[in-house]
Amino acid sequence: MKIDKKVLIAGCGGMLGEAVYQSFNSQYENVLATDIDLNVPWLKYMDVREFDQCEKVFEEFKPDIVLNLAALTDLEYCEKNHENSWLTNALGTENIALLAEKYKCTMVYISTAGIFGGEQDFYTDFDAPNPLSHYAKSKYYGERFVLERVSKIFVFRAGWMMGGGLQKDKKFINKLYKQITAGKKEIFVVDDKLGTPTYTVDFADAISKVIKTDYYGLYNQVCGGSCSRYDVAIDFIHHLKLVDQVKVTKVDSDYFKKEYFAPRPHSEKLVNLKLEKRGINFMRDWKVCLQEYSQVFVEDYYKK
Ligand SMILES: NC(=O)c1ccc[n+]([C@@H]2O[C@H](COP(=O)([O-])OP(=O)(O)OC[C@H]3O[C@@H](n4cnc5c(N)ncnc54)[C@H](OP(=O)(O)O)[C@@H]3O)[C@@H](O)[C@H]2O)c1
Repeated sequence: MKIDKKVLIAGCGGMLGEAVYQSFNSQYENVLATDIDLNVPWLKYMDVREFDQCEKVFEEFKPDIVLNLAALTDLEYCEKNHENSWLTNALGTENIALLAEKYKCTMVYISTAGIFGGEQDFYTDFDAPNPLSHYAKSKYYGERFVLERVSKIFVFRAGWMMGGGLQKDKKFINKLYKQITAGKKEIFVVDDKLGTPTYTVDFADAISKVIKTDYYGLYNQVCGGSCSRYDVAIDFIHHLKLVDQVKVTKVDSDYFKKEYFAPRPHSEKLVNLKLEKRGINFMRDWKVCLQEYSQVFVEDYYKK
Protein backbone atom coordinates (compact mmCIF):
# COMPACT_ATOMS: atom_id res chain seq x y z
CA MET A 1 0.00 0.00 0.00
CA LYS A 2 1.23 3.48 -0.86
CA ILE A 3 1.98 6.08 1.82
CA ASP A 4 -0.91 8.50 2.24
CA LYS A 5 1.10 11.73 2.01
CA LYS A 6 1.45 14.46 -0.59
CA VAL A 7 4.88 15.07 -2.11
CA LEU A 8 5.77 18.19 -4.09
CA ILE A 9 8.98 18.07 -6.14
CA ALA A 10 10.49 21.27 -7.60
CA GLY A 11 13.01 21.06 -10.45
CA CYS A 12 11.97 17.46 -11.18
CA GLY A 13 12.66 17.56 -14.93
CA GLY A 14 16.39 17.01 -14.63
CA MET A 15 18.76 14.06 -14.26
CA LEU A 16 18.10 13.58 -10.53
CA GLY A 17 14.40 14.40 -10.88
CA GLU A 18 13.87 11.39 -13.13
CA ALA A 19 15.03 8.98 -10.39
CA VAL A 20 13.36 10.92 -7.57
CA TYR A 21 10.02 10.88 -9.41
CA GLN A 22 10.22 7.13 -10.09
CA SER A 23 11.13 6.37 -6.48
CA PHE A 24 8.60 8.66 -4.79
CA ASN A 25 5.77 7.96 -7.22
CA SER A 26 6.09 4.23 -6.53
CA GLN A 27 5.88 4.82 -2.77
CA TYR A 28 3.52 7.77 -2.23
CA GLU A 29 -0.17 8.22 -2.96
CA ASN A 30 0.09 11.72 -4.40
CA VAL A 31 3.18 13.19 -6.10
CA LEU A 32 3.23 16.55 -7.87
CA ALA A 33 6.38 16.96 -9.98
CA THR A 34 7.20 20.46 -11.25
CA ASP A 35 9.84 22.25 -13.32
CA ILE A 36 10.21 25.11 -15.79
CA ASP A 37 11.31 22.62 -18.47
CA LEU A 38 8.23 20.45 -19.14
CA ASN A 39 10.07 17.67 -20.96
CA VAL A 40 7.73 14.80 -19.89
CA PRO A 41 3.93 14.68 -19.49
CA TRP A 42 4.01 14.16 -15.70
CA LEU A 43 5.58 17.60 -15.07
CA LYS A 44 3.62 20.75 -14.17
CA TYR A 45 5.00 24.26 -14.42
CA MET A 46 6.44 25.92 -11.30
CA ASP A 47 9.29 28.44 -11.28
CA VAL A 48 11.04 28.50 -7.90
CA ARG A 49 12.12 32.12 -8.50
CA GLU A 50 8.48 33.23 -8.35
CA PHE A 51 7.22 33.22 -4.74
CA ASP A 52 3.55 33.91 -5.52
CA GLN A 53 3.44 31.21 -8.17
CA CYS A 54 4.96 28.69 -5.72
CA GLU A 55 2.62 29.77 -2.93
CA LYS A 56 -0.38 29.11 -5.16
CA VAL A 57 0.89 25.55 -5.73
CA PHE A 58 1.44 25.03 -1.97
CA GLU A 59 -2.01 26.47 -1.17
CA GLU A 60 -3.77 24.22 -3.69
CA PHE A 61 -1.74 21.01 -3.24
CA LYS A 62 -0.96 21.29 0.48
CA PRO A 63 2.15 19.09 0.44
CA ASP A 64 3.38 17.12 3.47
CA ILE A 65 6.86 16.84 1.95
CA VAL A 66 8.61 19.20 -0.49
CA LEU A 67 11.86 18.39 -2.31
CA ASN A 68 13.75 21.23 -3.96
CA LEU A 69 15.90 19.87 -6.80
CA ALA A 70 15.58 23.04 -8.90
CA ALA A 71 18.94 24.57 -9.79
CA LEU A 72 21.09 25.88 -12.57
CA THR A 73 23.81 23.26 -12.57
CA ASP A 74 26.06 24.31 -15.44
CA LEU A 75 29.04 25.92 -13.69
CA GLU A 76 30.12 27.93 -16.73
CA TYR A 77 26.59 29.25 -17.28
CA CYS A 78 26.50 30.28 -13.61
CA GLU A 79 29.84 32.14 -13.89
CA LYS A 80 28.51 34.06 -16.88
CA ASN A 81 24.98 34.63 -15.53
CA HIS A 82 25.47 35.47 -11.86
CA GLU A 83 22.10 37.01 -11.31
CA ASN A 84 20.00 34.19 -12.69
CA SER A 85 22.13 31.62 -10.83
CA TRP A 86 21.58 33.38 -7.51
CA LEU A 87 17.89 33.94 -8.20
CA THR A 88 17.43 30.25 -9.01
CA ASN A 89 19.80 28.48 -6.63
CA ALA A 90 19.59 30.85 -3.66
CA LEU A 91 16.39 32.92 -3.86
CA GLY A 92 14.46 29.95 -5.29
CA THR A 93 15.58 27.87 -2.33
CA GLU A 94 14.59 30.68 0.07
CA ASN A 95 11.12 30.72 -1.51
CA ILE A 96 10.62 26.98 -1.11
CA ALA A 97 12.03 27.09 2.45
CA LEU A 98 9.72 29.92 3.54
CA LEU A 99 6.74 28.05 2.13
CA ALA A 100 7.83 24.72 3.64
CA GLU A 101 7.90 26.40 7.05
CA LYS A 102 4.60 28.21 6.51
CA TYR A 103 2.82 25.04 5.37
CA LYS A 104 4.62 22.90 8.01
CA CYS A 105 6.20 20.51 5.48
CA THR A 106 9.26 18.35 5.72
CA MET A 107 11.75 19.86 3.26
CA VAL A 108 14.57 18.19 1.32
CA TYR A 109 17.29 20.35 -0.24
CA ILE A 110 20.00 18.95 -2.51
CA SER A 111 23.43 20.45 -2.10
CA THR A 112 26.75 19.61 -3.65
CA ALA A 113 30.24 18.38 -2.83
CA GLY A 114 31.35 21.38 -4.90
CA ILE A 115 30.88 23.69 -1.88
CA PHE A 116 34.30 22.59 -0.61
CA GLY A 117 37.51 24.35 -1.55
CA GLY A 118 39.54 21.25 -2.35
CA GLU A 119 42.34 21.82 0.18
CA GLN A 120 41.66 18.52 1.97
CA ASP A 121 41.88 15.04 0.54
CA PHE A 122 38.29 14.27 1.56
CA TYR A 123 35.46 15.96 3.45
CA THR A 124 33.08 14.74 6.14
CA ASP A 125 29.73 16.35 6.97
CA PHE A 126 31.51 18.45 9.62
CA ASP A 127 34.22 20.07 7.49
CA ALA A 128 34.04 23.78 6.69
CA PRO A 129 32.87 24.71 3.18
CA ASN A 130 34.84 27.14 1.05
CA PRO A 131 32.89 27.49 -2.21
CA LEU A 132 34.90 28.72 -5.21
CA SER A 133 32.42 29.29 -8.03
CA HIS A 134 29.13 31.18 -8.28
CA TYR A 135 27.33 27.85 -8.57
CA ALA A 136 28.96 26.55 -5.37
CA LYS A 137 28.45 29.84 -3.50
CA SER A 138 24.77 30.02 -4.38
CA LYS A 139 24.24 26.36 -3.39
CA TYR A 140 26.03 26.93 -0.07
CA TYR A 141 23.86 29.99 0.58
CA GLY A 142 20.84 27.70 0.07
CA GLU A 143 22.20 25.18 2.61
CA ARG A 144 22.65 27.83 5.27
CA PHE A 145 19.24 29.38 4.68
CA VAL A 146 17.26 26.15 4.87
CA LEU A 147 19.14 24.91 7.95
CA GLU A 148 18.43 28.18 9.76
CA ARG A 149 14.81 28.60 8.74
CA VAL A 150 13.16 25.20 8.25
CA SER A 151 12.32 23.04 11.28
CA LYS A 152 11.91 19.70 9.50
CA ILE A 153 14.83 19.86 7.07
CA PHE A 154 17.05 17.31 5.36
CA VAL A 155 20.03 18.52 3.31
CA PHE A 156 21.79 15.93 1.17
CA ARG A 157 25.11 16.74 -0.48
CA ALA A 158 25.68 14.83 -3.71
CA GLY A 159 28.95 14.35 -5.58
CA TRP A 160 29.47 13.83 -9.32
CA MET A 161 25.96 12.95 -10.45
CA MET A 162 25.48 9.95 -12.77
CA GLY A 163 21.99 9.21 -14.02
CA GLY A 164 19.10 10.30 -16.19
CA GLY A 165 20.19 8.33 -19.27
CA LEU A 166 20.63 9.53 -22.83
CA GLN A 167 17.89 12.15 -22.71
CA LYS A 168 18.51 13.78 -19.34
CA ASP A 169 22.12 13.19 -18.29
CA LYS A 170 23.87 16.56 -18.76
CA LYS A 171 27.09 15.55 -17.07
CA PHE A 172 30.29 13.57 -17.47
CA ILE A 173 29.04 10.11 -18.53
CA ASN A 174 26.78 11.39 -21.29
CA LYS A 175 29.46 13.85 -22.41
CA LEU A 176 31.85 10.90 -22.82
CA TYR A 177 29.19 8.90 -24.61
CA LYS A 178 28.44 11.70 -27.04
CA GLN A 179 32.11 11.91 -27.98
CA ILE A 180 32.19 8.14 -28.57
CA THR A 181 29.07 8.12 -30.74
CA ALA A 182 30.47 11.08 -32.67
CA GLY A 183 33.29 8.72 -33.67
CA LYS A 184 36.17 9.96 -31.53
CA LYS A 185 38.94 7.40 -31.20
CA GLU A 186 40.84 9.32 -28.52
CA ILE A 187 39.23 10.98 -25.51
CA PHE A 188 41.05 13.43 -23.25
CA VAL A 189 40.13 13.25 -19.57
CA VAL A 190 41.52 15.07 -16.52
CA ASP A 191 43.20 13.10 -13.77
CA ASP A 192 43.75 16.03 -11.38
CA LYS A 193 40.13 16.36 -10.26
CA LEU A 194 39.03 13.96 -7.54
CA GLY A 195 35.53 13.26 -6.34
CA THR A 196 32.82 10.75 -5.50
CA PRO A 197 30.30 9.68 -8.12
CA THR A 198 26.66 9.67 -6.98
CA TYR A 199 24.18 7.45 -8.77
CA THR A 200 20.79 9.14 -9.01
CA VAL A 201 18.89 5.86 -8.53
CA ASP A 202 20.67 5.09 -5.22
CA PHE A 203 20.52 8.72 -4.16
CA ALA A 204 16.76 9.01 -4.73
CA ASP A 205 15.98 5.73 -2.93
CA ALA A 206 18.28 6.71 -0.08
CA ILE A 207 16.50 10.08 0.32
CA SER A 208 13.17 8.31 0.56
CA LYS A 209 14.53 6.01 3.29
CA VAL A 210 16.40 8.63 5.33
CA ILE A 211 13.44 11.03 5.47
CA LYS A 212 11.36 8.30 7.11
CA THR A 213 13.63 8.71 10.17
CA ASP A 214 13.50 11.74 12.47
CA TYR A 215 17.21 12.43 12.00
CA TYR A 216 16.77 15.87 10.47
CA GLY A 217 19.90 17.74 9.41
CA LEU A 218 22.72 17.84 6.91
CA TYR A 219 24.21 14.74 5.29
CA ASN A 220 26.93 13.91 2.81
CA GLN A 221 25.31 11.25 0.62
CA VAL A 222 27.56 9.91 -2.13
CA CYS A 223 28.44 6.47 -3.46
CA GLY A 224 31.13 4.44 -1.70
CA GLY A 225 34.76 4.92 -2.81
CA SER A 226 36.33 7.82 -4.68
CA CYS A 227 38.20 8.42 -7.92
CA SER A 228 39.42 10.82 -10.58
CA ARG A 229 37.50 11.68 -13.75
CA TYR A 230 40.05 9.53 -15.59
CA ASP A 231 39.17 6.47 -13.44
CA VAL A 232 35.48 6.93 -14.28
CA ALA A 233 36.22 7.19 -18.01
CA ILE A 234 38.36 4.04 -17.95
CA ASP A 235 35.60 2.03 -16.27
CA PHE A 236 32.93 3.40 -18.60
CA ILE A 237 34.90 2.51 -21.75
CA HIS A 238 35.49 -0.93 -20.28
CA HIS A 239 31.74 -1.47 -19.71
CA LEU A 240 31.07 -0.35 -23.28
CA LYS A 241 33.62 -3.00 -24.43
CA LEU A 242 35.52 -0.36 -26.36
CA VAL A 243 38.92 -0.63 -24.65
CA ASP A 244 40.61 -1.57 -27.95
CA GLN A 245 38.78 1.04 -30.03
CA VAL A 246 38.83 4.18 -27.87
CA LYS A 247 41.98 5.51 -26.23
CA VAL A 248 41.59 7.49 -22.99
CA THR A 249 44.39 10.00 -22.54
CA LYS A 250 45.14 11.69 -19.21
CA VAL A 251 45.45 15.46 -19.20
CA ASP A 252 45.44 18.07 -16.46
CA SER A 253 42.73 20.71 -16.00
CA ASP A 254 44.71 23.34 -17.92
CA TYR A 255 43.91 21.40 -21.09
CA PHE A 256 40.24 22.42 -20.73
CA LYS A 257 40.73 25.85 -19.20
CA LYS A 258 38.91 27.69 -21.99
CA GLU A 259 35.91 25.34 -22.07
CA TYR A 260 35.63 24.70 -18.31
CA PHE A 261 36.72 28.06 -16.92
CA ALA A 262 34.68 28.01 -13.68
CA PRO A 263 36.88 27.35 -10.63
CA ARG A 264 36.58 23.78 -9.36
CA PRO A 265 38.16 22.19 -6.27
CA HIS A 266 41.04 19.74 -6.74
CA SER A 267 39.26 17.32 -4.42
CA GLU A 268 35.54 17.16 -3.69
CA LYS A 269 35.68 13.65 -2.27
CA LEU A 270 33.01 13.15 0.38
CA VAL A 271 32.53 10.47 3.00
CA ASN A 272 29.09 9.70 4.45
CA LEU A 273 30.26 9.86 8.06
CA LYS A 274 26.94 10.80 9.66
CA LEU A 275 24.84 8.38 7.60
CA GLU A 276 27.30 5.60 8.52
CA LYS A 277 27.23 6.42 12.22
CA ARG A 278 23.43 6.52 12.26
CA GLY A 279 23.25 3.21 10.37
CA ILE A 280 21.36 4.74 7.43
CA ASN A 281 23.92 4.81 4.63
CA PHE A 282 22.10 3.18 1.70
CA MET A 283 24.56 4.17 -1.06
CA ARG A 284 26.41 1.45 -3.00
CA ASP A 285 30.00 1.62 -4.30
CA TRP A 286 30.45 3.88 -7.33
CA LYS A 287 31.94 1.08 -9.44
CA VAL A 288 28.89 -1.15 -8.95
CA CYS A 289 26.60 1.80 -9.75
CA LEU A 290 28.56 2.81 -12.85
CA GLN A 291 28.41 -0.76 -14.13
CA GLU A 292 24.62 -0.73 -13.67
CA TYR A 293 24.17 2.73 -15.18
CA SER A 294 26.43 1.91 -18.16
CA GLN A 295 23.96 -0.74 -19.35
CA VAL A 296 21.69 2.06 -20.65
CA PHE A 297 24.51 3.21 -22.92
CA VAL A 298 25.61 -0.33 -23.83
CA GLU A 299 22.09 -1.10 -25.06
CA ASP A 300 21.94 2.09 -27.07
CA TYR A 301 25.42 1.65 -28.55
CA TYR A 302 24.95 -1.93 -29.75
CA LYS A 303 21.48 -1.42 -31.18
CA LYS A 304 22.89 1.18 -33.60
N1 LIG B 1 24.49 17.38 -11.59
C1 LIG B 1 25.38 17.25 -10.60
O1 LIG B 1 26.51 16.79 -10.83
C2 LIG B 1 25.00 17.62 -9.19
C3 LIG B 1 25.92 17.37 -8.17
C4 LIG B 1 25.60 17.72 -6.87
C5 LIG B 1 24.37 18.30 -6.58
N2 LIG B 1 23.50 18.55 -7.58
C6 LIG B 1 22.20 19.16 -7.23
O2 LIG B 1 21.19 18.22 -7.49
C7 LIG B 1 19.97 18.90 -7.80
C8 LIG B 1 19.38 18.32 -9.08
O3 LIG B 1 20.26 18.62 -10.15
P1 LIG B 1 20.38 17.72 -11.45
O4 LIG B 1 21.69 17.07 -11.42
O5 LIG B 1 19.16 16.90 -11.63
O6 LIG B 1 20.47 18.91 -12.53
P2 LIG B 1 19.52 19.21 -13.76
O7 LIG B 1 19.44 18.01 -14.61
O8 LIG B 1 20.04 20.47 -14.34
O9 LIG B 1 18.09 19.44 -13.07
C9 LIG B 1 17.71 20.65 -12.46
C10 LIG B 1 16.33 21.02 -12.98
O10 LIG B 1 15.92 22.27 -12.38
C11 LIG B 1 15.33 23.03 -13.41
N3 LIG B 1 15.26 24.45 -13.10
C12 LIG B 1 16.16 25.43 -13.41
N4 LIG B 1 15.70 26.63 -13.01
C13 LIG B 1 14.48 26.40 -12.44
C14 LIG B 1 13.51 27.24 -11.85
N5 LIG B 1 13.69 28.56 -11.78
N6 LIG B 1 12.38 26.68 -11.34
C15 LIG B 1 12.18 25.35 -11.44
N7 LIG B 1 13.05 24.50 -12.00
C16 LIG B 1 14.20 25.01 -12.49
C17 LIG B 1 16.21 22.74 -14.60
O11 LIG B 1 15.60 23.17 -15.80
P3 LIG B 1 16.57 23.59 -17.04
O12 LIG B 1 17.08 22.30 -17.60
O13 LIG B 1 15.64 24.34 -17.94
O14 LIG B 1 17.67 24.44 -16.44
C18 LIG B 1 16.32 21.23 -14.50
O15 LIG B 1 15.23 20.57 -15.09
C19 LIG B 1 20.35 20.38 -7.92
O16 LIG B 1 19.96 21.04 -6.72
C20 LIG B 1 21.85 20.38 -8.06
O17 LIG B 1 22.44 21.57 -7.55
C21 LIG B 1 23.77 18.21 -8.88
